[in-house]
Amino acid sequence: MPKSNPDATSSDDYEFADTPLFRAVAAEMESWLGDDASGHDMDHARRVFDLATRLAEIEGADREVVGAAALTHDVHRAMNGTEAVHPEESLPEVRTVLERAGFPEAKIPAVLHCVEVHDEYDYRGVERPAESVEAEILRDADNLDAIGAVGIARNFAFTGVYGNPLWDPDGDGPSGIGHCYDKLLELEDEMHTDAARELAADRHDFLTAFVERFEREWFGEELPRDE
Ligand SMILES: [Fe+2]
Ligand SMILES: [Fe+2]
Repeated sequence: MPKSNPDATSSDDYEFADTPLFRAVAAEMESWLGDDASGHDMDHARRVFDLATRLAEIEGADREVVGAAALTHDVHRAMNGTEAVHPEESLPEVRTVLERAGFPEAKIPAVLHCVEVHDEYDYRGVERPAESVEAEILRDADNLDAIGAVGIARNFAFTGVYGNPLWDPDGDGPSGIGHCYDKLLELEDEMHTDAARELAADRHDFLTAFVERFEREWFGEELPRDE
C-alpha cells in the first residue's frame, strides 16, 4: 500500500518533471517509491523519465503518455514487499495515481498499456507484446537503466535487499553476478529504437568489462602465485 509522505510538501519538489502535470504525477508516485532501497526508487523513475521523454522526442511519440508511463511503471514493485507482483496487477493503482494527478482521461489507457507490458523480454518469450511506440520506448528506457554503471549499482542494491549473495559461482541460486548473466547481459538485444540501441551497446560493454573484472578479483587472479 502507498505510504504517507511527510517530506513531499508540494509538486514543486519534482523539478525534473518539466510540466505541472508530470510534477503532479511524480508527487503522487513519491508515496509508492519514496522509501524503496532496491533500485526502483524515485531516482530510477527520474532517470527513466528523462531517457524515455528524450526517446519520445526522437521517435515522434506521445510525450505525455511516455512521461506518465515512465513515472508510474514501477508501482508493481512497491505493492507487496519483496513478493513479485506483475505490472498487470498494478493497473488499478496506476490509474488512481493518474486520476489523482489530473492526467487526461483519454490518454490513461495508453499509459496503462505501457505499464502492463514493460516487464516483457524477447529472451524469455514475450507474452504481452508492445502495441505502441510509447510502450516500446518505456521498455527501452527502463532496460537502459538496468545496464551500465547505474544498472550495476542498482543490481547490487536489489541483491542486498533480497538477501542474495554477490555471487555463487558453484551454485545456481540467485546472486548479483548471476542476475547479470540471467538478465542484464541479454538486454542489449531487447532495444526497440535506434537511439536506445546505440546507448545500450556502450552500457553493455561496460557491464561486460565489469563482470569479467569482478570474476578476476573474486578468484584473486591479479597477483602471480608461487607454483
Ligand atoms: Fe517494473
Ligand atoms: Fe523500472
